[in-house]
Amino acid sequence: MRMYDLIMKKKNNGEHSKDEIRYIVDGFTKGQIPDYQMASWLMCVYFNGMTKAETIELTNAMADSGDRLDLSGINGIKVDKHSTGGVGDKTTFIVAPILASLGVPIAKMSGRGLGHTGGTIDKLEAIKGFNVAISEDEFINNVNNIKLSLVGQTGNLAPADKKIYALRDVTATVDSLPLIASSIMSKKLAAGADVIVLDVKCGSGAFMKDEVSANALARAMVDIGNGAGRKTYGIITDMNEPLGCKVGNALEIYEAIEVLKLKKLEDVDYGIYRLLEVSLTLASYMLMGAKNYDEKEASKNSDMLSYEQARKLCEEAITSGRALDKLAEFVKAQGGDAQMIYNPDKLPKARYIEPVYMEEEGYLSECKTSEVGMVSLILGGGRETKESKINLAVGIDIKKHLGDYVKKGDVFAYIHSDDKDVMDEAKARLLNAYKISDNKKEPEKIVKDIVY
Ligand code: URA
Repeated sequence: MRMYDLIMKKKNNGEHSKDEIRYIVDGFTKGQIPDYQMASWLMCVYFNGMTKAETIELTNAMADSGDRLDLSGINGIKVDKHSTGGVGDKTTFIVAPILASLGVPIAKMSGRGLGHTGGTIDKLEAIKGFNVAISEDEFINNVNNIKLSLVGQTGNLAPADKKIYALRDVTATVDSLPLIASSIMSKKLAAGADVIVLDVKCGSGAFMKDEVSANALARAMVDIGNGAGRKTYGIITDMNEPLGCKVGNALEIYEAIEVLKLKKLEDVDYGIYRLLEVSLTLASYMLMGAKNYDEKEASKNSDMLSYEQARKLCEEAITSGRALDKLAEFVKAQGGDAQMIYNPDKLPKARYIEPVYMEEEGYLSECKTSEVGMVSLILGGGRETKESKINLAVGIDIKKHLGDYVKKGDVFAYIHSDDKDVMDEAKARLLNAYKISDNKKEPEKIVKDIVY
């Protein structure tokens, strides 16, 4: 086989055999195929796409390129969730303790943030002492003992994806459906869970800007997961404004704690409502996936859990305080200061907190969500390159949401910054990210579709 011929084949919209896909992935990972040929092939894929069979083989080849996490030491059906990336997305800190408090084991590997999207691992480091790099044995023991552990991605999980993603990043080939689907799913398959719930973000802060493309991505990933024998659900959720009110590492942990402290779930701020709705939907599907895993057994014993039943259990996990206690237990088990969970005012705080005032009157009708993520980045809360050091305390606390009527002088948000000099730029960019209209536009549905 020659890489030249395979590039030519993809250029002419041909379909690769399994052996050809393996040749490309293995050859590139081992350094036998140079970057320039791989880049050329990726661009052919970008324009001509891949068939379902090719996408599945690409996923499997990348998952096989390194270690697969062995979760066989954990009792019960293991459940994982993954978000395709957004702004203000802190659902993991709500969903994982809910599930663990209901006895469902969560053994999760997460990544760091890059660009306008935040990373779960960075956010957890806002908790004093929290260790994201515990050993595999500790990870497994913690899941067996308290049902929840969360670690940073190890070096050798799907190394082919790591190498290919780095090349896609610099060759404008990231936003290709088969490449995104296979990249995400290769890591999910290698991470070993039995049930995978995918939060596929859709809108101005997401890879997929519209529902049709978000649906297509969800379909591709769900087919890969189910095809590999993992029960997989894709939940398509709105990312046309940040999720919740707070954006920034410590601020997002703070907001997740606020949600887990709720004693009743009605009449909450609209931002919190959106966050709660996405979290409860994800948690309910994760719980259903675990409890109904063996559908034949469950239906024989009339044990099938409906969405409504699952949702009620997840809601009670919050209102009873059990999910909050589970979060504290999890933090303590990984060396973190559990007191920060009960008293989140102890989380890192920025030196300056300044209001952003509205300069116009009308309805908030549109948000360039990724631009809000960029504001967090210029404050120091995000990474421009993989090597950037981030400031865990900074960020944005948004007080108004799409559909709200605002007047000149209203407080729109608070900027949390350690650097007075970036305040003005951050305020201006934040206001510029929103459009104001005379007519009210109803906000988008929060949970748009379920793919399974
Ligand atoms: N996240 C990933 O892990 N891979 C992609 O290709 C896009 C988002």
